[in-house]
Amino acid sequence: MRRLKIIFPALFLSVCTIFILHSSLNAKDTKNTEQRVEELLAKMTLIEKIGQMVQINDFDGKIPVDLRRALKEGRIGSMLNEMVPETSMEIQCIAREESRLGIPLIMARDIIHGFRTIFPIPLAQAATWESELARASARIAAEEATAAGFHWTFAPMMDITRDPRWGRIAEGFGEDPFLARHFVAAMVQGFQGEDLGAPDTIAACAKHFVGYGAAEGGRDYDTAYIPENLLRDLYLPPFKSAVDAGVATVMTSFNEINGIPSSGNSFILRRILRDEWGFDGFVVSDWRSTEEMITHGYCKDLPDVAQKSVTAGVDMEMQSSAFTDHLDELVNDGVVPLRHVDDAVRRILKIKFKLGLFDNPEFYRPALSQKPSSRALELAKEVATKSVVLLKNKNGLLPLAKDVSSVAIIGPLADDPYEVLGTWNRDGNPDDTITPLTAIRDFLGAEKIHYEKALEYSRDKDMTKFSAAEATAKKSDMVLMFLGEEAILSGEAHSRAYLNLPGAQEALLDRIVKVGKPTALIVLAGRPLVIGASAEKVDAVLYAWHPGTMTGPALADLIFGLESPSGKLPITFPKTEGQIPVYYAHKNTGRPPAGRKLTMIDDIPVRAYQSSLGDASRYLDVGYEPLFPFGYGLSYSTFDYANLKLSQQKLTVGDVLDASVDVTNSGRFEAEEVVQLYMRDLVGSRTRPVRELKGFRRIRLKPGETQKVTLQLYTHELGFHDPEMHYVIEPGQFDIQVGGSSQSGLTDSFELIELNK
Ligand code: NOJ
Repeated sequence: MRRLKIIFPALFLSVCTIFILHSSLNAKDTKNTEQRVEELLAKMTLIEKIGQMVQINDFDGKIPVDLRRALKEGRIGSMLNEMVPETSMEIQCIAREESRLGIPLIMARDIIHGFRTIFPIPLAQAATWESELARASARIAAEEATAAGFHWTFAPMMDITRDPRWGRIAEGFGEDPFLARHFVAAMVQGFQGEDLGAPDTIAACAKHFVGYGAAEGGRDYDTAYIPENLLRDLYLPPFKSAVDAGVATVMTSFNEINGIPSSGNSFILRRILRDEWGFDGFVVSDWRSTEEMITHGYCKDLPDVAQKSVTAGVDMEMQSSAFTDHLDELVNDGVVPLRHVDDAVRRILKIKFKLGLFDNPEFYRPALSQKPSSRALELAKEVATKSVVLLKNKNGLLPLAKDVSSVAIIGPLADDPYEVLGTWNRDGNPDDTITPLTAIRDFLGAEKIHYEKALEYSRDKDMTKFSAAEATAKKSDMVLMFLGEEAILSGEAHSRAYLNLPGAQEALLDRIVKVGKPTALIVLAGRPLVIGASAEKVDAVLYAWHPGTMTGPALADLIFGLESPSGKLPITFPKTEGQIPVYYAHKNTGRPPAGRKLTMIDDIPVRAYQSSLGDASRYLDVGYEPLFPFGYGLSYSTFDYANLKLSQQKLTVGDVLDASVDVTNSGRFEAEEVVQLYMRDLVGSRTRPVRELKGFRRIRLKPGETQKVTLQLYTHELGFHDPEMHYVIEPGQFDIQVGGSSQSGLTDSFELIELNK
């Protein structure tokens, strides 16, 4: 992992001082951004314009001769991943001081769930169901990233997915567009703040546009076939929320969708993004996704790539050379209209002006490498604590009493400061991580802890230390097992066909469980794993995802009951890989399995008469229910729901329905609960899902306390896209469910009595 360097050479400082002084003279420029963009554009040659549309990767902190020349000639608009502060500053100095028009570069980085302070992976953040936390974590990431010289993050990722085999599930907010929309908007606002020109804000990027999470078989980069109504009802809404929240940029996805790769897809980039939504930021392609259109079989060569992507609406090309090498000729030959190039450059320059790159470059002067602040660490701990989902707690094994006499801590992830940071951990420093072992030791005292790693890493198959682990369990009162996935097993290109605990971890669990001590399993992973059999064997399961820098303190608080677990699943957990896709907002079908007598595989007599065995949509071997449903999560306390009341039984379009419910903490712990509201449109001109999330709120209750919670259901949320792709809200009967998961709660119904106007 490369780190920020700490030393500033004296010579370098003086060059940049000139640059900064010079720049700040422009700060008093009172012209508005549009005027400034137009004036600058009017001075630009075609080559300089195309230069703004080019983004390149760093050169290992160096500035080769060719790069220096390209910067002087104004042929580079942006760079990603330049982590060496001196180099970053020098690059800007060359662009500002030595190029004809002095246009600064926009420096980008993947700042996905924190910069120096690593917050839980986005999927885990979604498990908090508290989008304000995502806003706050993005704010801190922006503060840390601007201090390191970055202006732009490639986040948030908002690809809806129903497939945990897909490694990038870790980077998004799960399966539900309503939940994702809230997190997307909050994160965009957190990164960008109120004013993109402030010293501690960065441009956000809505990615990957679009349908990337619908990859066939969960294989990264694979083909997506998405009917347009599903595209509009499921995959597009988070992007629309990002645009509504003012996101500065959008990134195209690698995949093709219905036969057209995103980077050449004018239907999504021009018609939907620009014409329908009025997006006025700029679009960047994903890494070489433009030239990969040749491999897809959509473009014949690089000129074709440049023509198709610019015409479709890509403004900046990431790390490939179709624009650099061919766009000028295409424009000169009249193949690509100059106005496409002008529009792209306008949009890019506008964001550069808005960020203050022309006026206040000193905002982004890379500083000394910072340690995470105590404010950042506190927040990281809070997010991690609220993201952990308690999946099982037989006989209330958890929380452990502080006076427990000895605890065995076993597993490859109990004391690993790196793996718990999860995917996209490049700028985090494992030295900052507090591991579970450290935190539990601090809490209980070293003398009560018996630790055995047993496996070196999650995929390790070497069982030679199992006997030692067994002995560790034997001499302890109870066992905490820290198993899961290393960081590298989720994220880009890290799809898995088997979702088991990798390596010999399941064998380790079996050995330890046989010892017979009460055992809690803590899973640290970037995706839902198939853990049904493991969960069966242990008394308690905490699903902790990859929680980041503050993994240990968050888990210690939960294990010892300083806080009660309160995370809820943002994604359905399958019983087995063969059940995928399995998601809560499915259709009813003509033969729903619920309520029918189902014959399971072992009930079938040998040489059975050919019949359809119950006529239901399900598997003979695993049935139809998932292992754990969307929205599920236990607490150390219990919550009772009563008195569901709807403000109206009949509504018209434009009304807001208030659904109120009394939630009582009926257990012994002060705890938080996420109250969830689902609705079902019973009859539609297109069939509707059996449940759709439409509201949620996290509340905190003392033991015995009751709170009336009122959730609003906005009638404009009741619609869907009809065959003509109009968003319609149809009159009729709707069911409502309010409770603590997608599969439980109080129910009522209302009628919508007015046609969509
Ligand atoms: C490829 C990834 O798909 C994208 O998410 C990321 O932002 C870019 N690489 C840049 O690192």
